Amino acid sequence: MIEEIRSAIAAARGIVILTGAGVSAESGIPTFREAGGLWARYRPEELATPQGFARDPRKVWEWYEMRRRAVLACAPNPGHEAVARFLRRREDVTVLTQNVDGLHHRAVTGVDEEGPFPLDGSSARARILELHGNLLRSRCSECEVAPAGEPPDHPAALNVDSLESLPRCEACGALLRPDVVWFGEPLNEELLDRAFAVARAADLCLVVGTSAVVHPAAGLPLATRETGGSVCEVNPEPTPLTSFSTWSLRGRSAALLPQILGKTDPSR
Ligand code: OAD
Repeated sequence: MIEEIRSAIAAARGIVILTGAGVSAESGIPTFREAGGLWARYRPEELATPQGFARDPRKVWEWYEMRRRAVLACAPNPGHEAVARFLRRREDVTVLTQNVDGLHHRAVTGVDEEGPFPLDGSSARARILELHGNLLRSRCSECEVAPAGEPPDHPAALNVDSLESLPRCEACGALLRPDVVWFGEPLNEELLDRAFAVARAADLCLVVGTSAVVHPAAGLPLATRETGGSVCEVNPEPTPLTSFSTWSLRGRSAALLPQILGKTDPSR
């Protein structure tokens, strides 16, 4: 099956790669819905909703600060790296990620020294759409303004000991919040339109490491399918998208992505 998928990838014009928490599992970042996942240990309504933030912003920041430090202590795995090399080789590839850990971006920088690649890092990074935001960034909870000059990859440690110590917006004084999409919030409309446009135009959608139950992201592979494209799922477990998939590869992304995205034709 892998050879068939590799041929489809070589022939495709326009590929989208929809990723979820499973892609980062082998970097040591917990997923959400599996046994022992984040939503088995924490209450999403307290920690990942605007209402939860309004009730107890310190608690929410404490949780995100813990996750930020955990993400910064992790590194991209061979799955992220295979995607990063693929983005540096082909301009018609777009990554649509639900992950807020920034590891796809870091992987693009990480493979730099293997170059030269046909495409530079900034072109590759521009084709990574973080649909649910990035927990390494903050923005104002009121006026939406992002803090000036905050280096997104290495945010300074926050003091989350008290309400008074939490970060505040320089423009309006309201509390900053993590720049992620919470339950009940809409996704960035422009980003979502772009994601559906590339998914519809793609010949192939790879769906990797997502339980495919959170919409609208879970609808992206269906957009590829509806316009005549193929869907290839990479996941150790079946998902609601399995029956819509042309191919279902059962296994882990860190092992499978290098096999299916690895270089064959030297010109591509
Ligand atoms: P989930 O935790 O729902 O699903 C993780 C998926 O990864 C499961 O289907 C696993 O079988 C699969 N998986 C686990 N290890 C894997 C591995 N090594 N290789 C490949 N796949 C593996 O995570 P998401 O689908 O990403 O939203 O969750 C979607 C959204 O729900 C998240 O973005 C988050 C969450 O609530 C927000 O925070 C807005």
